[in-house]
Amino acid sequence: MPTRRPLASRLAVTLISLAVASLAACGGDNGPPTLNGEKAIVVGHRGASGYLPEHTLESYRRAIEGGADFIEPDLVATKDGVLIARHEPNLIATTDVSERPEFAARKTTKVVDGVSESGWFASDFTLAEIRTLRAKQQFAERDQSNNGKYLIPTLQEVIDLAKSESARLGRTIGIYPETKHPTFHQGLNLALEDRLLAALSAAGWTTKSSPVIIQSFEVANLKYLRTKTQVRIVQLVDADDVDAAGNIVLAAPFDKPYDFAVAKDPRTFKDLVTAAGLAEIKTYADGVGPWKPYILPGRFVDRNNDGKSDDLNGDGAIDERDRVLLAPTKLIEDAHRLGLFVHTWTMRNEPRRLASDFAGDPKAEYKRFFELGIDGLFSDFPDTAVSAR
Ligand code: G3P
Ligand code: CA
Repeated sequence: MPTRRPLASRLAVTLISLAVASLAACGGDNGPPTLNGEKAIVVGHRGASGYLPEHTLESYRRAIEGGADFIEPDLVATKDGVLIARHEPNLIATTDVSERPEFAARKTTKVVDGVSESGWFASDFTLAEIRTLRAKQQFAERDQSNNGKYLIPTLQEVIDLAKSESARLGRTIGIYPETKHPTFHQGLNLALEDRLLAALSAAGWTTKSSPVIIQSFEVANLKYLRTKTQVRIVQLVDADDVDAAGNIVLAAPFDKPYDFAVAKDPRTFKDLVTAAGLAEIKTYADGVGPWKPYILPGRFVDRNNDGKSDDLNGDGAIDERDRVLLAPTKLIEDAHRLGLFVHTWTMRNEPRRLASDFAGDPKAEYKRFFELGIDGLFSDFPDTAVSAR
């Protein structure tokens, strides 16, 4: 017969065991666990776009070298219906198209999600023409020395890279494709969804355990995709800005999914993260992808009451470094309660993008989100994210 211990002792052992299990489940920090009890995933945002021109095979490779679990191709369509990795349909900011005299006449103005913009659009170029372009870094503060070197990859090449690197490294590298401006592409008769499904199907990626997560800021296309595939789906949640008090600011076109705008649906992105909004997301998605201030907002301070935000670091500018973090919202908890995972974006190393609480240390930001039980995050510097995990 086993020796019986006093109740208090047994309770203590039980509590210690639970605490150890909880620590193991939350990725090593004190705080709530991730939804599946595993470490948060790191997504190479546009590859490792902090280092190399975004959405190039070189940028994706760099993300993988840095330990990223997933690489993220944003997707737009070419004139001949090929999905390529670009953040915008307009190629002006991320390629050398504006310097190519042969394409000068291709400059035009289009309306994307209700906003008129000028430039050179992927949907006016065949893939063969896109292949003559070279990528460039769109953030002026980042290394420009690799501009003009790299090709614009197709989705198929991104899939092939994920597969070959997974085999080479002996670990699974997934892809996290985002359908960019689905309504815009449908209007051009270049809908992204079936093209994406065909590529995933050809890759053998059709189930929940496939190394794929599809994301979109629109809703109707995700609902459609859910009827066609069982791969994981994430509803992205955007906003225009954060005000001085730390409140989310909504302004078109970042106030609501653009298909809601077209359908005159009054709901906004904020409505998507209410209890009712999350419950609806759960009907077609596996996770939610909010901009990070939806989880951890920050506010400016005005200690001298002069009506202006204080320049906390005294550098003459008011930016993220002058914000003080507020208490986290309940979004992760609310989503987890419904069985939705939460992946947030975008983590960036530059000190000017970090709240004062992090004192210029990007790892401190990752650690804070890990403590909150975040299930995954998109990073321009995935090696930093991995080293903080
Ligand atoms: O997809 C998550 C994040 O990438 C959304 O922002 O604008 O960089 O695609 P964006
Ligand atoms: Ca994206």
